[in-house]
Amino acid sequence: MSLARDVKAGFAGRPRSLPPKYFYDALGSRLFEAIGQLPWYRITKAEKRLLRRAAPAVAGALTGPVRVVELGSGSGEKIALVIEALRARRKTTVVHVVDLSAAALADSLQRLAKIPGAKARGHHATYEKGLLEATHPPRGRGECLVLFLGSNIGNFDPHDAERFLASVRRRLRPGDALLLGVDLVKPERTLLEAYDDPLGLTAVFNRNVLLRLNRELGADFDLAAWEHRAVWNADLRRVEMHLVSLVRQRVAIPRAGVVADFAAGETIFTESSYKYELPDVESLALAAGFRRERQWIDGDARFALTLCRAIDI
Ligand code: TRP
Repeated sequence: MSLARDVKAGFAGRPRSLPPKYFYDALGSRLFEAIGQLPWYRITKAEKRLLRRAAPAVAGALTGPVRVVELGSGSGEKIALVIEALRARRKTTVVHVVDLSAAALADSLQRLAKIPGAKARGHHATYEKGLLEATHPPRGRGECLVLFLGSNIGNFDPHDAERFLASVRRRLRPGDALLLGVDLVKPERTLLEAYDDPLGLTAVFNRNVLLRLNRELGADFDLAAWEHRAVWNADLRRVEMHLVSLVRQRVAIPRAGVVADFAAGETIFTESSYKYELPDVESLALAAGFRRERQWIDGDARFALTLCRAIDI
C-alpha cells in the first residue's frame, strides 16, 4: 500500500478521488469512534445491539476450537462481544484483529487481553494482507469465523464487494463462517443526517484526509477552503462523500508528484456507502460462495447482521 501512488492514481481521474482507507489514521479512527456515538449515525449502535442478541447463537453455531478474525476491528468492542460468548461456551479461541490504525489496534488488543483464555494477535494491515496473515498457517481442527461489520462492505462498489467476499471465501474452508453487517436502504433524509451530521463531525472526518496528505506527502491543502458534502445517489443506491473546493485554487502534493488545479465547486470523491435491500445481501453472499444461515435485523435503524456459511466452491 502506498499513499503517494494511490493519490497520484486517484488524482489522474475526473472527478479526482481518494481511496477511503486513508481516513483511518490515528485521528481519523478516533473521529470515527465519535461518529458512532452520534444520534444520527445509527449503524454502530444498532449493530452492537444486534451482536449482543446474536452472539450466543453465533458462538453456538461453531464447534471449537475457533479462529476469529475481524477485518477493520476499530476499538475491538464488537469482536469482544463475540469472544465473550465463545468463552461462555468454553470454546478455545484464537483472535486476529486487522486494522489500518495502529492506535485502534492497540485499543482492541488491550480490550481483548482482559478476556481470559483469548489469545489475540493484531495485524496492522489492509483487509487483504491482514486476512492472509490471519489465515496462515492453515489451522488443524475447528472453524474460522470472519467478522466484517459496520457496513464496511458498503464502501466497495457492488462488483468489488462480490470480488472481495469471494477472496475471503477462498481463504476459508467449507463450514467456516462469515458474520456480515450490512446497512439497508432507508429514507434519504435519514441517510443524509447520518453522513452529514448537524454537529459537523462527519465533515471533520472527511476533511481530515486532507490534513493527512499535508502531513505525510507535504501537500499544501488549505483546510478552510474545503467543504464536506454528502449526496444520496438513488439510482446507484449509495451515499457519496465528496470534498468540495470552495474557491479556484491550486494544490501541490510534492511527495506524490502532483500539482492539481481546482475550479470553485470542483470536488474530490472520497467514499461511497452503498445501501442494500435484504434479498441483495443473500445474493451477494451466494455469489461469493456463502449461504445465509441466520439473520438478525434492526427494524428501526434498518440494519442487518447475517451469519453466512462457506459452501463448496
Ligand atoms: N463503513 C462506514 C459507512 O459506510 C464508514 C463511514 C461512516 C464513513 N461515516 C462516514 C466514511 C463518513 C466516510 C465519511 O457507514
